[in-house]
Amino acid sequence: MAESLSSDVRVLAGRLENAARVTVVAGAGLSAASGVPTFRGPGGLWKDFRPEELATPEAFARDPRLVWEWYDWRRQSIAGCRPNRAHEVLAAWSRRFATFALVTQNVDGLEERAGTINVLRFHGSIWELSCWDGCRAAPARWRDETAPFPALPPRCPRCGGFARPGVVWFGEPIDPGVLRASLEALDCDVCLVVGTSAVVYPAAGLALEAARRGAFTAEINPEPTEVANDLDLAIAGRAEVVLDAVERVLSES
Ligand code: OAD
Repeated sequence: MAESLSSDVRVLAGRLENAARVTVVAGAGLSAASGVPTFRGPGGLWKDFRPEELATPEAFARDPRLVWEWYDWRRQSIAGCRPNRAHEVLAAWSRRFATFALVTQNVDGLEERAGTINVLRFHGSIWELSCWDGCRAAPARWRDETAPFPALPPRCPRCGGFARPGVVWFGEPIDPGVLRASLEALDCDVCLVVGTSAVVYPAAGLALEAARRGAFTAEINPEPTEVANDLDLAIAGRAEVVLDAVERVLSES
């Protein structure tokens, strides 16, 4: 590991050693080493697909089958992915610190599969469905890990109408309970931003709010983002490498 990287790792580990409340804000880069494609950058999903054609309520209203084909394909691909070292370290930290939250924009569920406690699903879960018509008979969301679905779109088990993916689309609000818990989690000692391009709001504003409330803030991303200058530390490296290195320093101390 380059000298500057290892000194950054020591700085972050030092902060974590003295921390009781740790919050991590994560994006697609956390799952990159698991083989889940990111949205932007080389190989990003938005190079081949247009968000407004696939990830908006208008797109679903226009062509529910097309939207479901995309989610069904992603569900099949994610089903074959495993948590990587970065997920494992965060799972360990969720038990190590007195107060820990992982605010994730990812919908893949690899955080829970790694054993993380207190995952706040900012953009929902690809493994949950809800009734497109919002029928009162169905629970707001239900879990369904079928991949692929035998017929698309899948149906609401109660009213027989279309089911939709339990994710937050562009133009939709964050679940109020998740938003409240995420904002509360910004009252922390260390706020770490891992693998997000920090361009989609409100998630992109969370670390700056934590900084405003007095947290030590750090980013882990091989490509430093626009918010990096406003944080206390930007570690230019991959999550699975940097988090592993920080964890090794912590477990030696
Ligand atoms: P992006 O694809 O925008 O950004 C992924 C980030 O991960 C980039 O900044 C990469 O440099 C970084 N990265 C790549 N490999 C990495 C690695 N091994 N370790 C650490 N970082 C790595 O993904 P998000 O920021 O998560 O929203 O995107 C935010 C939202 O935009 C998503 O939740 C999704 C998308 O459109 C919705 O669908 C509503």
